[in-house]
Amino acid sequence: MQITIRQLVVLEAVARNLSFTKAAAELHLTQPAVSMQIKQIEESIELALFEQVGKKIYLTEAGKEMYGYSRAIQQQLYEAETVIEDLKGVKHGKLTIAIASTANYFAPKILAAFKDQHQNVTFSLDVTNRKGLLKHLDNNDTDIVIMGKPPQSMDLVAERFMENPLLVIAPIDHPLVTKSQISIQTLLQETFILREEGSGTRIAIERFFSEQGMKLTTSLNMSSNEAIKQAVQAGLGLGIVSLHTLEMELALNRLAILDVESFPILRHWYIVYRSGKRLSPVTAAFTEFLLKNTAQLLGQ
Ligand code: PGA
Repeated sequence: MQITIRQLVVLEAVARNLSFTKAAAELHLTQPAVSMQIKQIEESIELALFEQVGKKIYLTEAGKEMYGYSRAIQQQLYEAETVIEDLKGVKHGKLTIAIASTANYFAPKILAAFKDQHQNVTFSLDVTNRKGLLKHLDNNDTDIVIMGKPPQSMDLVAERFMENPLLVIAPIDHPLVTKSQISIQTLLQETFILREEGSGTRIAIERFFSEQGMKLTTSLNMSSNEAIKQAVQAGLGLGIVSLHTLEMELALNRLAILDVESFPILRHWYIVYRSGKRLSPVTAAFTEFLLKNTAQLLGQ
């Protein structure tokens, strides 16, 4: 059997997503490039890996077997990398870290301060939403994750390290800016621009309103905090975002925070990894550094 590790990576992504398009997007490849890699594996093993029924693709028996092996091989490679990092120690280690889109407003400061103390450490950073982070945890393909409340359904080690308040933002000339203790009912009459489904921010907002027995109906979806802030400034509606995203806009008086009853929605940040995971020296050192120094570094 003549198969490369690259081909196994492609196979794993197609099988997990059950979609050539999604796998191509995830791997930053074109769809024909993905199809070609799958075809080459199929030629090598002389069996089909996927079958198409209607618009959906399904794994064949051979596909299921190869999916299992491709996951296991990738896992082994990742473990080998961890062992090698172990041998190198903290001095020359590499830290693979995945963070929530919203954490991107503070995590680089912590990484920079850590790098000051460990000049030769290198980082690989993936910034994605909550859904993407859960995938990383499921695949166990990153050293640590920085995210909102981790799911109960996974066996994880999670340490809470900072508050994450979500606030209602408005353009500075909005009529509600001068009001205090605005009721939730009043908010329901406004148009909202919210983060995409699958983001932790969105889940928290939906939970908050459903706990009040209400639902925000008129809303636009945007997949980044930056896009939301721009849209709110432009007068497209109100937004609900983390305080961490607002440093510049508040300093320059470009957005206002509304005084709404029961707000802020209080979330927290956690540093998370899979239970039983063997942390490399650099990962353990970074985790300790973050827990000890974040408050001081960010002036919290
Ligand atoms: P998000 O994550 O960037 O996916 O919204 C932040 C959070 O979980 O609060």
